Amino acid sequence: MKAPLPTAPPAGAKKRNTPAAACGAATLSEDARAAIRPGQSVALLQELHILTNDGRLNQDSRRKLKQVYHLYQFIEKLLLELPARTDADGAPDGLTVADHGAGKSYLGFILYDLFFKALGTGHIYGIETRAELVEKSQQLALALGFDRMTFLNLSVLESTTSKSLPAQIDLVTALHACDTATDDAIAFGLAKRARAFALVPCCQAEVARHLGGSRALMLARTPLAELWRHPLHARELGSQLTNVLRCLYLEAMGYQVTVTELVGWEHSMKNELILARHTGHKKRAAAERLRAVLQEFGLEALLDTRFTLPPDNSADNQS
Ligand SMILES: C[S@@+](CC[C@H](N)C(=O)[O-])C[C@H]1O[C@@H](n2cnc3c(N)ncnc32)[C@H](O)[C@@H]1O
Repeated sequence: MKAPLPTAPPAGAKKRNTPAAACGAATLSEDARAAIRPGQSVALLQELHILTNDGRLNQDSRRKLKQVYHLYQFIEKLLLELPARTDADGAPDGLTVADHGAGKSYLGFILYDLFFKALGTGHIYGIETRAELVEKSQQLALALGFDRMTFLNLSVLESTTSKSLPAQIDLVTALHACDTATDDAIAFGLAKRARAFALVPCCQAEVARHLGGSRALMLARTPLAELWRHPLHARELGSQLTNVLRCLYLEAMGYQVTVTELVGWEHSMKNELILARHTGHKKRAAAERLRAVLQEFGLEALLDTRFTLPPDNSADNQS
């Protein structure tokens, strides 16, 4: 593993004594040198197969790096917008991130390398159910000296009550977390009073299952049920509907939501990025729309499970 390049801290970052190891830099190809940011760890990029072992970028890795930077720019913006927080004693508190369905944790590692490393504060938690990936990420963090990263072998659901995580998490990310793991990540963020979310949902089967269950009844009730008469259409509609419901839910729970596309992710069918910033302004109109859409599609049962709204959220909101 090659040593990291010298660190160039972002504005406002604490200065750290990072060994100015040049051996990584010396072996980099010219285009790799141009693509890599000051202070970025060459060793990490090699571990993530973004850089080849001999310090080059190939066509595939060039695309990968572009994708990573593209996603990073949205997350960096979210993090920079967050006002500083203090702990119970009034001391500045570092930012906390929980990355759900972390997989090989490349998002967490890139975030740490580009943002948290030079800051000298803050902590990233990777939540993942596959023990071997958790173990591998732990070892990589140790090898890179990324000491404010913790990897937990937990499901998203379990992590909500785990003592290994702090009571508050600033940013919740979930990148292609399978099926309902994105919904669990939203519930986690609400429980942890998250100040922001960055979610790239994966396929979700739950809504399609519910749509299928009420198909006959709904076909008798509305011609719109033709939209999910065939199982394939139910799956596609279910996926779209799920993300619409998630956005309405976040708005109803006090977040301002933006939906955008992760361009450069052409290889993936799932390239919708949902960004949410906490405003505390619980939109009554969003809650009403959420209820209405669920009713329209015969999905009211989800109000008791996925999209539980406060009994009356009209008190602290205007539409
Ligand atoms: C498609 S991979 C995405 C990994 C990574 N976020 C990325 O984009 O490269 C989804 C990961 O989520 C994990 N996962 C699925 N359901 C989960 C759950 N309920 N809780 C935690 N991890 C979960 C899987 O084991 C898998 O590693």
